[in-house]
Amino acid sequence: MNYKLTIKIVKDAAEFNKTCAEKIKEQIAKNPQSVLGLATGGTPVGVYKELVSMHKAGAVDFGGIKTFNLDEYYPIEKGNSQSYYTYMGENLFDHVNINKANTNIPSGEAKDPQAECDAYEEKITKAGGIDYQILGIGSNGHIGFNEPDDFFPDRTHFVDLNQKTIEDNARYFDSIDDVPKKAITMGIKTIMGAKKILLMATGAGKAGIIKEALFGNITPKVPASILQLHSDVTVVLDEAAAAEIKSSISNV
Ligand code: F6R
Repeated sequence: MNYKLTIKIVKDAAEFNKTCAEKIKEQIAKNPQSVLGLATGGTPVGVYKELVSMHKAGAVDFGGIKTFNLDEYYPIEKGNSQSYYTYMGENLFDHVNINKANTNIPSGEAKDPQAECDAYEEKITKAGGIDYQILGIGSNGHIGFNEPDDFFPDRTHFVDLNQKTIEDNARYFDSIDDVPKKAITMGIKTIMGAKKILLMATGAGKAGIIKEALFGNITPKVPASILQLHSDVTVVLDEAAAAEIKSSISNV
């Protein structure tokens, strides 16, 4: 099999944020009506900050952009400081000229989460699918909240968070007991349907899973490994996250 992933290693956080933001900027310049798939978590915070600066400098116009976030905790109120709804406002939407009506995040307040999943998937389909999907990766290999399992979940679905994910995300909450135990997430088929994907990872804590995901077997035990089958994925890593793949890369 020809190795299809494009891997870029950068030296520090500043270069990481700039490189990722530039790629998103290029996508928006190429298609000002792009449908972007967005991620939350620690990894993209600096990338969104960079995009906000680019926007303030007149270099990025979000006026025609539509967005779909990967996931949201369930249950969670939009106004909760840890909801992904709050995160997106604070980190991006409140600082750029995006039309809020064109931003979509699964609702953690939905009475019927399954109906919410179905409606979300339908909205993505109606928008013509995702043009450019931004992804982080969990230390257990998850993308979105597609957790390690015996199968690849396909469409947007309601999921029990993996214990590792709950532990990893406890750093954002007062206590681990406050971390929601469930979430709504785009599925693997939804993500793989994106025309282009940008996978981002930083820090030594991701080095092992990056090696498994990019160079290990394609298996639902490491959900991100499915990205090896996509035809247009760029992976941006800092030195620490790339520490275990240096020798594999020279063979690509
Ligand atoms: C967030 C998401 C998750 C994160 C992943 C990494 O919307 O879908 O898959 O990208 O958990 O999180 P950080 O960046 O906090 O290490």
